[in-house]
Amino acid sequence: MRLFIDTANVEHIREIHEWGVLDGVTTNPTLVCKENRNYTDCIKEITSFVSGPVSAEAVSMDAEGMIREARELSGIAENVNVKIPMCPEGLKAIKVLDGEGIMTNCTLVFSANQALLAAAAGATFASPFLGRLDDIGNDGLRILSEIVDIYKRYSIQTQVISASLRHPQHVIGSAMAGAHIATIPYEVFKQMVRHPLTDIGIERFLADWEKIKDL
Ligand code: G3P
Repeated sequence: MRLFIDTANVEHIREIHEWGVLDGVTTNPTLVCKENRNYTDCIKEITSFVSGPVSAEAVSMDAEGMIREARELSGIAENVNVKIPMCPEGLKAIKVLDGEGIMTNCTLVFSANQALLAAAAGATFASPFLGRLDDIGNDGLRILSEIVDIYKRYSIQTQVISASLRHPQHVIGSAMAGAHIATIPYEVFKQMVRHPLTDIGIERFLADWEKIKDL
């Protein structure tokens, strides 16, 4: 499973990128709003050092507007894919953009049926939102699992991005379910890397090294 970061905070992206574990970035208007930045400038800066897929979101409500925005956003860099919301207009846009060779990430997917439609339209990626499903009492991981199983059964090329992840267990569950990609918030990356036994182990090795280093 490839690891993306779900943020528009360039410092956070740089930090995780420097770990050598980052395969891509996803953003959305809410995440860019948190940074209070111009969307295009933000995507440009991210693509200046991230070579894997970078998602930027279209905000038009009609297919024509989505297509126009997607052409502009994908022109920023060759690794930009365009997030298109799951809806009839979005499906129309994805179909056209697929024909033009523009990568799309069908976003706001909450069911296996929606994921089937995204794939049928030709989405490069489909993003089920696990945390938001859990928030309303559904089981995000179960729906992710259904989507992955269905895509595998029919050798569907659309890649599943497990999104709206809230904690490390979501990441493990996504990997166990076979998601192609997990897009992970910065705070969750920080939680993933830490383990109290690792800290205790490092401390003990260093203490013992101090005792023998001059022998
Ligand atoms: O990638 C989608 C993600 O940004 C949504 O996360 O936490 O707003 O549900 P959240």
